[in-house]
Amino acid sequence: FTVDWDASATEKGGWDSYMDKEIHEEPLAVSDTLLGRFSVDGDLNLDEVRIDEDVFRSIDKIVVIACGSASYAGLVAKYAIEHWVRIPVEIELAHEFRYRDPILTPRTLVVAISQSGETMDTLMALRHAREQGSRVLAICNTQGSTIPRESDAVLYTHAGPEIAVASTKAFVAQIVAAYLLGLYLAQVKGTMYRDEIRQIVDNLKAMPEKIQWVLDNQADVIAQTADRMAKAHSFLFLGRHVGYPVAMEGALKLKEIAYTFSEGFAAGELKHGPIALVDEGEPVVVIVPSPRGRDVLHNKVISSIEEVKARGAFTIAVAEVGDPDVEHYADVIFWRPECSTLLSPLTDVVPLQLFAMDMAKLKHYDIDKPRNLAKSVTVE
Ligand code: G6P
Repeated sequence: FTVDWDASATEKGGWDSYMDKEIHEEPLAVSDTLLGRFSVDGDLNLDEVRIDEDVFRSIDKIVVIACGSASYAGLVAKYAIEHWVRIPVEIELAHEFRYRDPILTPRTLVVAISQSGETMDTLMALRHAREQGSRVLAICNTQGSTIPRESDAVLYTHAGPEIAVASTKAFVAQIVAAYLLGLYLAQVKGTMYRDEIRQIVDNLKAMPEKIQWVLDNQADVIAQTADRMAKAHSFLFLGRHVGYPVAMEGALKLKEIAYTFSEGFAAGELKHGPIALVDEGEPVVVIVPSPRGRDVLHNKVISSIEEVKARGAFTIAVAEVGDPDVEHYADVIFWRPECSTLLSPLTDVVPLQLFAMDMAKLKHYDIDKPRNLAKSVTVE
């Protein structure tokens, strides 16, 4: 009696690839990153961070430094933290940071986001920030790695080890950690009422279930769409507000593992150039914000779909269940459950990750180890 046993398949827990496994671990990555960060009375409690509340209170600017997917998590952080805390948040690619002589003071909080904690570009940028007298807080997924060791404080993401080169669960966990930082700053600076913070925390705690809904209900339509699009040469991704970093992350996944030319744009920029690229049958992926209130943001994104559609584009929308407008214009819709626009990147990126993975699978590429890329880039 023999049993066929494949060590690598066992490690992947029955999934075809680590990426597949890691995408399906996203609900857990989000809930684990939220775990243990609240006191019994429901206040945010970032004790582990070990920066004095008074220091946090004195912060008048945040600069986020990161590379790749982590930089898009940083752009989501900018929208959320500026809205909640009312202080300016800049996001800078770590490798550009120190070459432009950035303005840093002891009241600047520099936030270094890195899954591995070993990215040399991010490490060099954080060293520069500390030399200028700023405090550095790392958002990191790897305990004891260099970036948290060299920072003044660390907020760990609890996504668990990420093996696939293309970041998925670490990305959503980074966004959650950034939200926690923003809400904590709002709490210590008193820029929001306790009840408002509680409401957002409750909404955050509901996100794992919403991600699970996407995984359970949208996989088929995503796989079918990948099938239809297998021969596409390029993709445009459009989004506004937090949909913009989601668009860039969706495009990055397709480049990284499906080797397909793709670019993410701010939807408003369309008319300033990218619309020239739109041609008959060309796929355009649009991230649509919540339709509640049919506000300006939603209406503007819907008109972007109309504009590209009118020029023959094949439109794929990521939209909230029951959005009445999106159905008129989009050829395909990847649905997500209802959630606030600021938190929507956590659900909206999921179909885009699955889509890139399905495209790579169809082409028989090595999903976990794409050509020319490394999980962690330890040279400058
Ligand atoms: C590499 C990886 C990307 C990752 C980036 C930043 O380029 O291929 O997937 O987003 O580094 O990595 P970090 O570990 O700092 O988050």
